[in-house]
Amino acid sequence: MSPTSHPPPRWRLDEVASAGRENLDAAHVARYDDKQDADAAGDVELLRRFGLDERSVVVDLGAGTGQFTLAVASVCAAVVAVDVSPVMISRLRANVAAAGANNVRVVEAGFLDYDHQGAAADIVYSRWALHHLPDLWKAVALARMRQILRPGGVLRLSDIAFSFDPADTETHLERWCATLPDVGAADAWARRDIEEHVRDEYSTFTWLLEPMIERCGFRIEHTDTSADGVFADYVARAE
Ligand SMILES: C[S@@+](CC[C@H](N)C(=O)[O-])C[C@H]1O[C@@H](n2cnc3c(N)ncnc32)[C@H](O)[C@@H]1O
Repeated sequence: MSPTSHPPPRWRLDEVASAGRENLDAAHVARYDDKQDADAAGDVELLRRFGLDERSVVVDLGAGTGQFTLAVASVCAAVVAVDVSPVMISRLRANVAAAGANNVRVVEAGFLDYDHQGAAADIVYSRWALHHLPDLWKAVALARMRQILRPGGVLRLSDIAFSFDPADTETHLERWCATLPDVGAADAWARRDIEEHVRDEYSTFTWLLEPMIERCGFRIEHTDTSADGVFADYVARAE
């Protein structure tokens, strides 16, 4: 901490502590790219339809190992890849260096304290990360995303968010857990990963998340929810 900086208020969420047990686990992080294909190329294609081009400045919040960061870096002007986990950050830095992506800046920070410098961003991207924040802090994070973007800029938000009826929660969650074996291979997700997600993290209902997005200054232009009611993807325009 520099002599002039202040400690965060004690009521502020500890984002590292909330970053997810596995995202702070070096063994999981080392296997992440084998476990998870983030379909970064698909998101790049989709974002081209919403204005992504070679002049775009992109901020990837909760960038993980950098699958999207590296895919988008080859078609845009600059990417800021932000993550709060020191373990993920070192993997991300190594992947960026290995790819020789010299238009990527890696920043170790969270949704709640990333300090965007320079030109307003054209695109903010966040995939499977916002659920690490409880709802109060999700809304604060969305308001901060709005401040990072220029008016007319685009938010691509993908997360585990529930579109089923609250009364059907147990049925849907049990059905989701049953899609995976109790213990998976080292490079695959297992039932216990889903159980841990539901129990310890903060995925919310889509009918709570969507008004939050709108309340924070966005117009939702594109929504996809998965048939099992578990995943949601949005494109929202900064007003
Ligand atoms: C499941 S990974 C997803 C990584 C990447 N976006 C992808 O789709 O492959 C979730 C990431 O969010 C990061 N994360 C968790 N809480 C965060 C926070 N408060 N601020 C920024 N990043 C966070 C984790 O460290 C982890 O890298």
